[in-house]
Formats: sequence, structure tokens, C-alpha cells
Amino acid sequence: MERLRRLRVSPAVRGMVKENHVRVDELIYPVFVTEGQDICHPVDSMPGICQYSLDRLPEELERVMAARIPAVLLFGIPEYKDERGSGAYEKDGIVQRAIRLIKSDARYKSLIAIADVCLCEYTSHGHCGLVKDGVVLNDETLPLLARAAVSYADAGADMVAPSDMMDGRVGKIREALDENGFSHIPIMAYSAKFASAFYGPFRDAAHSAPGFGDRKTYQMDVANGREALREMKADLLEGADIIIAKPAMAYMDIIREASYNFNVPIAAYNVSGEYAMVKAAAQKGWIDEKKIVMEILVGLKRAGAKMIITYHALDAAGWIGEEGHGGL
Ligand code: PBG
Repeated sequence: MERLRRLRVSPAVRGMVKENHVRVDELIYPVFVTEGQDICHPVDSMPGICQYSLDRLPEELERVMAARIPAVLLFGIPEYKDERGSGAYEKDGIVQRAIRLIKSDARYKSLIAIADVCLCEYTSHGHCGLVKDGVVLNDETLPLLARAAVSYADAGADMVAPSDMMDGRVGKIREALDENGFSHIPIMAYSAKFASAFYGPFRDAAHSAPGFGDRKTYQMDVANGREALREMKADLLEGADIIIAKPAMAYMDIIREASYNFNVPIAAYNVSGEYAMVKAAAQKGWIDEKKIVMEILVGLKRAGAKMIITYHALDAAGWIGEEGHGGL
């Protein structure tokens, strides 16, 4: 008989043999910034998450700093949208100004500002690239993504995270960053990003639902695992420093494969729909939110994630600080 219970006898012994931990310094917290003043607009489908105008953003940043979360991932809700997603790459775009605010304030000096690079929040049609005759164009979109990345870096972003899923975008962004004096800025690429229904609540939060059709011609087919390796390899060859698997929970096999195959840090994006499901069930009293969240996060670590991008970050940071790591 294998007596595996010997090492489960007490919290201390279990703690000593515990293989994985959720750490605050590996959490990335997504933040939505919007035009306007005095806005802290709750997102209905994401309880606890708000869109912040720049004058109210410091409140949220204070919480992030107090929780010792090292990084925020910024998403913008612009004043206007157009066919070319101009708001993504104009000098005074909403995310550019949010980054400048963060970088000009000594209180947030250590905070890593990561800019999501995509057009969907900024295009009138809601697609992640330029559209012609109902088709999302690939190569024509690349210069705009590169321009957006450079303008975020120019505003002071510490890292850029392309989420558009156009082919070749990492290479173009790397080239543009290098040419403009930003060879030191890392690219965290959404490499294995699936055409998932789990992004529903995010699209409410970012007002970025596609106006026609869906994203299946550029985001990955949810049934494909082998292809995810090709996506990740392509992004690494083009210069990605960190690769993201997204969503996280229904895609742990992808995280696992990524961590076995590539010697770069893997980030898991625990997306809006995953967050919303947990929140809804917790509000009904059907699950223990703290235990469920910590179990999900350590599960992602076990699968092979290094960093975790999650809307639970503020709560989780508090729970990790508790004795016994929030019950883990
Ligand atoms: C933009 C983008 C999306 C998410 C991150 N960046 C939405 C999408 O692809 O439609 C989803 C994040 C989430 O659901 O939490 N392309």
C-alpha cells in the first residue's frame, strides 16, 4: 500500500510538501479607463469591476499599490470610435493619458503599466483590425497596431500586450519599437487566444463587441490545441518575451503544453466570463468565493502558468496575505 496520507497529516506537513503557490508578485490586474470626469462606473456583468475616468483612477491605483500587485493591464474606452480605430494610437488617447498619469506620480513609480494593444475598443465596427467588404484585413492592420504600441511606449508603458490575433503583429510591433528607441520594452503576446464566449462580460466593460459577425477568422478555434503551439511558436520567433494563453480555466491543457514546450514565462488570462461565473454563484451563496478563487488560481499555477492576469487580483492579494494562503 502506498501511504500517501502520511504527508497530509497536518497543515504544517501539507504546507511543507505543497508544490504550487499563488503569489501576489505574479498577479496582473486589468483596469478599464474611460473618458469623462468623476466616473467610477460599475460593470454590471463583472461585480466589483468599474470603468474609471482619469481623475478617479488614483483610487483604484491606491488599492493596487496597497495590495502590492506589481502590474496593471490597461484597457481604454475612448470618446469616439472610427473605422480605423484612431483612438488606439493618437498621442492623447485615453490609455496614453492613463499611462502618463501613472508614470508621472511618484506613488506609482514601481507599478508596471502594461498596455493592451488592439483596435476593437476603438473601431466603430468593433473588430480587432481594419475591415473591408466585411473582411478583417491582416497586413493592412499591422502598421496601426505597431503605431499603437509605439505610442503607448512613448507615453511610458513598461510593456505592451497585443491581443488582436493578426498574423505577424508581434514581429511588426517589435520592429517598430526597436526603430523608435524602445528595444528595452517587452512584448507580452496574447498568443493562444481563442474565439471564446468567455469574453462576453469584457465586451460590456470595454464596449468592444463586434458590430457584425464574430472573431472566428482571427481568434483561434476553441477545439484546437495543437494549433495553439504553432501560434505560440510564431510569436516567439517574432520576438515575444512572454506568451499568454486565454481564456484560462477551460484551456489548462494549453497552459500545460506551453510550459512544457517553451522556456519563456507563460501568463494565464483568467478572463471576464470566468470571473463573472464565480461572482454570480458566490452572490447566490452557492459557492465559497475565497476558496473557489484560490483553487482556480493555484490550478493555473499547477498547469504551468507563471503570471496570472485576473480580475480577482485585489481580493486574491488580500487572501494570500492571510495565514494559510486563503485556505489553500
Ligand atoms: C481585445 C481583448 C479582449 C479581451 C482582452 N483583450 C476581448 C476580445 O477579444 O473580444 C478579453 C478579456 C476578458 O474577457 O477578460 N481584443
